[in-house]
Amino acid sequence: MSTFKNLIVFGAHGKVGQHLIKLIAKSSVNATAVVRNDEQAATIKEISSGGSNITSAKLDLADASVSDLAKNIKGHDAVVLTVGSAGKNLLQVDLDGVVKAFEATVEAKVRRLVIVSALFAENREAGLKSGLRNYYIAKHYADRILVDEFGDKLDYTIVKPTILTDDSPKGKIRIVQSPNDDYGTITRADVAQVLFDTLGFKDTFGKSYDIANGDKSIEDPKTYQ
Ligand SMILES: NC(=O)c1ccc[n+]([C@@H]2O[C@H](COP(=O)([O-])OP(=O)(O)OC[C@H]3O[C@@H](n4cnc5c(N)ncnc54)[C@H](OP(=O)(O)O)[C@@H]3O)[C@@H](O)[C@H]2O)c1
Repeated sequence: MSTFKNLIVFGAHGKVGQHLIKLIAKSSVNATAVVRNDEQAATIKEISSGGSNITSAKLDLADASVSDLAKNIKGHDAVVLTVGSAGKNLLQVDLDGVVKAFEATVEAKVRRLVIVSALFAENREAGLKSGLRNYYIAKHYADRILVDEFGDKLDYTIVKPTILTDDSPKGKIRIVQSPNDDYGTITRADVAQVLFDTLGFKDTFGKSYDIANGDKSIEDPKTYQ
């Protein structure tokens, strides 16, 4: 059971984010779900069955200053970032937006941060092959800044899933070892479960994982060793 009990989730209204909010709603963990408007806040309320452990805050990562973000992060004990602009605003959201969130996390004196990136984002060749070059460039530099500039200030975990699907959760994953391996797919529900479970796994601090559905239990800390 994670020692982190008070989360702030950026991208809570996204597809992975909503799976994560549903998991949190059933747990003893509290969360602030970051949304962009009142309609999204209503959806969060609905999917968390009105549970009092989930509240919403309205923030836009492209517009918010580091100090706005820090004010919202303060008082939580971990930050989850499952944000993405779906290619529409890569510089302001996928790159600068998340880097502002790293800075704000430090300013708010929170150490734990888990972020969703993309399979082999550290590898430029993988980005080229994917056909999503600008998307991969944004993910690459955001991850690189997190590791190089914030590695000693944040206990981060970078979760890098392969292609996401909306299939039912399988509960099992594998760590993809090389861009030349078969990288399959992974369900968004399983990615949410990985985010939730790894929060409390100390062995995942300062590490990144390329993941696909596989045969290892998401809930088992050994899967991430
Ligand atoms: N699709 C894939 O196959 C794939 C593969 C690997 C990794 N990923 C990554 O997985 C993550 C989650 O994917 P998903 O399918 O859950 O994506 P999604 O449904 O598009 O969710 C992305 C979330 O980011 C939020 N967002 C976008 N711009 C924002 C801004 N300016 N300020 C604050 N929040 C903002 C969205 O808000 P709204 O709800 O308002 O739109 C949404 O909640 C993303 O980082 C994505 O890049 C995707």
